[in-house]
Amino acid sequence: MGFGHIELGTVTPRAQPGNPKPRVFRLSEDDALINRLGFPSLGAEVVAERLAGPRPEGVIVGVNLGKNKDTALEDAVADYCLLARRFAPLADYLVVNVSSPNTPDLRRLQAGPALTALLSAVRAARDETPGRRKAPTPLLVKLAPDLSLEDLRESLTAAMDAGIDGIIATNTTLSRDGLKSPQATETGGLSGAPLTARSLDMLREILRFTEGRLPVISVGGVMSAEHAQARIDAGASLVQLYTGLVYGGPGLPRRIIEALA
Ligand SMILES: Cc1cc2nc3c(=O)[nH]c(=O)nc-3n(C[C@H](O)[C@H](O)[C@H](O)COP(=O)(O)O)c2cc1C
Repeated sequence: MGFGHIELGTVTPRAQPGNPKPRVFRLSEDDALINRLGFPSLGAEVVAERLAGPRPEGVIVGVNLGKNKDTALEDAVADYCLLARRFAPLADYLVVNVSSPNTPDLRRLQAGPALTALLSAVRAARDETPGRRKAPTPLLVKLAPDLSLEDLRESLTAAMDAGIDGIIATNTTLSRDGLKSPQATETGGLSGAPLTARSLDMLREILRFTEGRLPVISVGGVMSAEHAQARIDAGASLVQLYTGLVYGGPGLPRRIIEALA
């Protein structure tokens, strides 16, 4: 399809079913989705065994890590460290996901002190584990679009203090501003077109505040080649999309790379 990289997950340490179905909703009038999957996962062991099998050269695979639903928030660090150790040798990059709205209280881990403790521990776990290449496996954190400016800056300071390698912005939003579709009342994270402007703004703010010291993977509301171009022009190191595929179809990645070439 033309994608330059793939991100797997969110993977949890132990297998869990996620939320009852239906748990994904199409907001056709808004070019958007609401999902409340809640990390359905086969668990780290099954995913790691699959990843350890043969795969084509040159396919970049990130692995996105999350705590189990029934892991208490105070024990979350251990979940993420276990995942980092298991996947550092198998992944091209690791993502600490603290921004899904569908695992109760997960987003509280984005707050400055909690995030510093979490990322420092995960970084140490990553550092003591050999990577796929000579260098340690890059470690990123994925942030929510609903952070206030002050909270975003606190999270970025925590990320820089912990010495991690990059930021992914953004996850889905809890906002329901300006939606037309009747499904807008569903619980979950909103993705797609309603995120386009917010996600671009957040990319710009992150690059400004960090003075470009951390690479940013930009995601959220990339529905067209123009949107992808705007992310690159703003300084994104990589661009991801998910909901765009639902509305733009499987030809979207090719249309984007042809327009960018
Ligand atoms: C059905 C669905 C499932 C998702 N699951 C995850 C997930 O497990 N972990 C995660 O970090 N983000 C997850 N996301 C968020 C996306 O990775 C992305 O950050 C968000 O949808 C914004 O991008 P988009 O507008 O291109 O979809 C999910 C999104 C959708 C639509």
